[in-house]
Amino acid sequence: MQYIIDGGVPLQGTVRISGAKNAILPLLAATVLASQKCLIHDAPALNDVAVMAEILRRLGASVRWLEDNGGRVLEVDPRHICVSEVPDDLVRQMRSSIFLMGPLLGRLGRVRVAYPGGCAIGPRPIDLHLRGLEVLGARIHERFGYIDAEATQLVGREVHLDFPSVGATENVMMAAVLAQGVTVIRNAAKEPEIVDLQNFLNHMGARIKGAGLDVIRVEGVERLGGAEYAVIPDRIEAGTLMVAAGITGGELLIDNCIPEHLDAITAKLRETGTFVEESTNRIHVRAADRLIAVDIKTLPYPGFPTDMQPQMMALLCLAEGTSIVTETIFENRFKHVEELRRMGAQIKTEGRTAVIRGVPMLSGAAVEATDLRNGAALILAGLASEGTTLVNGVSHVERGYEQLELKLAQVGARIRKSV
Ligand code: EPZ
Repeated sequence: MQYIIDGGVPLQGTVRISGAKNAILPLLAATVLASQKCLIHDAPALNDVAVMAEILRRLGASVRWLEDNGGRVLEVDPRHICVSEVPDDLVRQMRSSIFLMGPLLGRLGRVRVAYPGGCAIGPRPIDLHLRGLEVLGARIHERFGYIDAEATQLVGREVHLDFPSVGATENVMMAAVLAQGVTVIRNAAKEPEIVDLQNFLNHMGARIKGAGLDVIRVEGVERLGGAEYAVIPDRIEAGTLMVAAGITGGELLIDNCIPEHLDAITAKLRETGTFVEESTNRIHVRAADRLIAVDIKTLPYPGFPTDMQPQMMALLCLAEGTSIVTETIFENRFKHVEELRRMGAQIKTEGRTAVIRGVPMLSGAAVEATDLRNGAALILAGLASEGTTLVNGVSHVERGYEQLELKLAQVGARIRKSV
């Protein structure tokens, strides 16, 4: 399966952003802690969501899609969850299932999960997750490729994260909500998805404060009810489509987004000369007459997001001047460089730094996606290229983008999936 793209068309029109992949996944994990049904509105139909739903079913929950005046609602009934082993085959498909450890420890007092491997962008260690759970009283054994953890009763403590890991913050937060006493997480990740998780858990009856800041305080409670909640829009999908307008010389209205979640992306795009105007839940983007080279350094939120680094690099390939991109979060997130070079980009890399010398035009080529963000970046480069681009690896992109090719085609892109 591949995307076939005939480039050179400036995109025009309005695109609507779907629910956030990196918010809905921890929300679904958090339903394990609920004692009643949960309803999650604006749930995106993504492959990763299907995997997480299947994991919940294997644990004993029932999960089904409801239609609710056009919006997509996921209903999770967690009342019959009794299995504490996360299925190996599904952990391999989606390594972020590791953040089921916290909820299963909180709910059942034990969990077994296969060691999630690394992926294309790095080894993806989970030491911060495991150390954090141990501080709360979990006894953890790693052997034969599995992690076994158990805790008759988790107890609230001070947890200091060496790095503001998104997943470790979420895992520890979910383990803490049913622990005895107060947990304080220091050097917590501040991403909007952490705030969304706090709000969802508090809707169930948890007592969490501070998400979005460095210190999160969780007061343990006896039990949680259910919740009805709407997941936040996907800031990375929104950023990807903002770049789509900028790279094709077009103009897009990005609907159903939260502009403040995009501040770092908006600031960088404005530096390139791209016009960006924000309103309550929309962003208007118009391409620059001539793109100006800028430097980018990825950082934890609210810094420039690593998940937007490949997409911005595609844009900078066409900027006048030389740009420097430094990837500080992941060890190996330059797999798109080789592919962009096939399209005529002038990029040199040294470790975690890439130097991009802008060129007037890219040319279509056959290229390979190895993760969803570099897949999106190659699609963007194809939209801006002369000629036809074939992007292999559609399955990577569909893990985190809902009907991306349809959304792009609706605003003029000549893109289709090959059968
Ligand atoms: C989340 O991954 C996102 N995934 C990633 O999005 C995102 O890139 C990342 O956060 C950073 O923003 C989901 O939310 C499902 P981390 P996560 O723990 O939680 C190191 C996408 O494209 N680390 O903040 O795995 C780690 O190696 C994906 O949508 C440890 O050393 O990210 C990495 O270098 C890609 N030990 C850094 O921290 C640990 O125990 C950031 O990882 C955990 C992490």
